[in-house]
Amino acid sequence: MTLSTKQLFQKAEQGGYAIGQFNASTADQIKAIMKIARALKSPVIIGTSEGERDFLGVRVAVKLLEAYEEETGLPIILNADHTKSAAKAEIALKAGYNSIHFDGSELAYEENVKQTKYVVEMCARFSADISVEGELGFLAGASKIIKEKVEIKPEYYTDPAQALDFVTRTGVDRMAIIIGNSHGISIEEPALDIARLKQTYNLIKGRAVIVLHGGSGIPDAQIKDAIVNGIRKINVNTELRAAFHDTLKKVLNESDETTPYKYLAPAMDAMADIVDNKITLFGSANKV
Ligand code: 13P
Repeated sequence: MTLSTKQLFQKAEQGGYAIGQFNASTADQIKAIMKIARALKSPVIIGTSEGERDFLGVRVAVKLLEAYEEETGLPIILNADHTKSAAKAEIALKAGYNSIHFDGSELAYEENVKQTKYVVEMCARFSADISVEGELGFLAGASKIIKEKVEIKPEYYTDPAQALDFVTRTGVDRMAIIIGNSHGISIEEPALDIARLKQTYNLIKGRAVIVLHGGSGIPDAQIKDAIVNGIRKINVNTELRAAFHDTLKKVLNESDETTPYKYLAPAMDAMADIVDNKITLFGSANKV
């Protein structure tokens, strides 16, 4: 029997591993991700930001993933990443998404609580199987190669006690926290605040699982440490974008190939290699 999105995270919690969220905006990228998830027998999350799903189309994303679910027998979570309004969340829900990340982190705290709770209740009205992620703290950067240092100020970090209050009052299934992570790959290696993660995990475990955004460019040893200390979902985008882009650029520069399935294949393979490494690192292989 296929596990529900909530059960998949409960299983990850019991097993002490993390499920990867891989962001995509094209059918080719989704195909590359699914090829590895299938080979490694791993649960997988496809993430689409507002921009990514506007490009792909929400209904197309749902139907594509339904086809992959049928073909592979894998449980697939389709997450509406960084959704900034209830209206946008509703569009994704109506299209058939089974996971919503409502990102109210730019709002004042009480407003974030209020809007996140509203989205949790809206999702529950759609189906009991839709899991919701909330976010607290300020996530700096953007999902690209950043040729300078990304400043992460002390006030950007998530306060563990506030995270507990947030989870209790909103009823979210997942909590995205800021512990020194940022979007994108910058010139400086991130340093995760594992003590803060541990504290947050001890406070909220059993109520919500913890999510690490900005998974690109974080050294493997820090990722392992984060999983040991409670991270159950890790989002990866920039490393996939860079692998796809760099390989495609090279192929197009070096040949006159005009057949899409020929010039796209190496870019998809390069992206698939990253997914392979991440799923292995996150420990979710053979968990379905
Ligand atoms: P990166 O682009 O740093 O991998 O972050 C992705 C992410 O957190 C998507 O929500």
